[in-house]
Amino acid sequence: ISKYLQRDEQETISLISSLPSDIDFNGTKLFKYQSCWYDNKTLQGILNFQRGFKPQETDIIISSLPKSGTTWLKALTVALLERSKHSTNHPLLSDNPHGLVPVLELRLYIETSKPDLTNFSSTNPRLFATHVPFHTLQEALKSTPCKVVYVWRNVKDALVSLWFFECANHKIKIDEERSLLESMFDSFCRGVSYYGPFWEQVLSYWRGSLEDSKNVLFLRYEELKIEPSAQVKRLAEFLGVPFSVEEEESGCVEKILYLCSLDNLKNLEVNKTGKTARGVEHKNFFRKGEVGDSKNYLTPEMEKKIDMIIEERFRGSDLKL
Ligand code: A3P
Repeated sequence: ISKYLQRDEQETISLISSLPSDIDFNGTKLFKYQSCWYDNKTLQGILNFQRGFKPQETDIIISSLPKSGTTWLKALTVALLERSKHSTNHPLLSDNPHGLVPVLELRLYIETSKPDLTNFSSTNPRLFATHVPFHTLQEALKSTPCKVVYVWRNVKDALVSLWFFECANHKIKIDEERSLLESMFDSFCRGVSYYGPFWEQVLSYWRGSLEDSKNVLFLRYEELKIEPSAQVKRLAEFLGVPFSVEEEESGCVEKILYLCSLDNLKNLEVNKTGKTARGVEHKNFFRKGEVGDSKNYLTPEMEKKIDMIIEERFRGSDLKL
């Protein structure tokens, strides 16, 4: 085995060194792989994941760009799948959604292409997450018809959310860090940003959902906010766990929505105090959860610039901000 691992490592190193590279807003070297940008470590995780993942038909993969509603979607999916089992010791009460649904390339495959997943059973069926675009995920799935749920969000709100997240993680006061937002904005618009360009990501899943609507569900954060029950029922049906009439009549949908609401999750002890495996404080995943908050931080010029980029990139699709 160690001989194979060594060979994999060699291949990874020579592949990465052959890729185009650039620098992002905070000076990190990024590499372009399958049309998107990653730092060295993340890319090693992606290559390990593509090489070593053994998908099962029942696997469910949650995908998103960071800060697009991942935490909410993870919580909702866990709550839907576990709804018959736990009434008092629900997994969401004892762990953060990111602990329950690990990111494949960042946690499970970051060091190795052969992680031990035999004890991986925080849910049944297996529930994983990723941030890679659809074409990169497809390589790892190797034609296995897993269910993929993608959530995306107005990218201006996602950008501002990321800025707050970075500031919270590095304990920087937000009003002192206007220049950080400006450099993140430039990286974002140039497309040279971690897991970006965002348009590649969004369009890849949009196309995927059109080509295979049975296995790829394309959700929007804003729609979840506007009509949460309808969207959660849609998610439940897609996952093959639709609500029965009795469940609907007994308020099961509302219970799940309450359990997974921002206010409820952020006030749970585990989310007030805990940290992820990567050392991020759970509380940093919960902020305002509002639609359009970016208006309060981006200048009209910045908004106009992003709007123009998106209009151009999304031309020919029916996607709108
Ligand atoms: P804001 O920073 O705009 O408030 P991700 O989960 O992908 O990291 O995205 C984080 C964003 O989702 C943050 O947005 C956060 O407040 C919001 N969020 C987290 N949990 C949520 C929930 N249960 N319901 C709605 N929004 C949530």
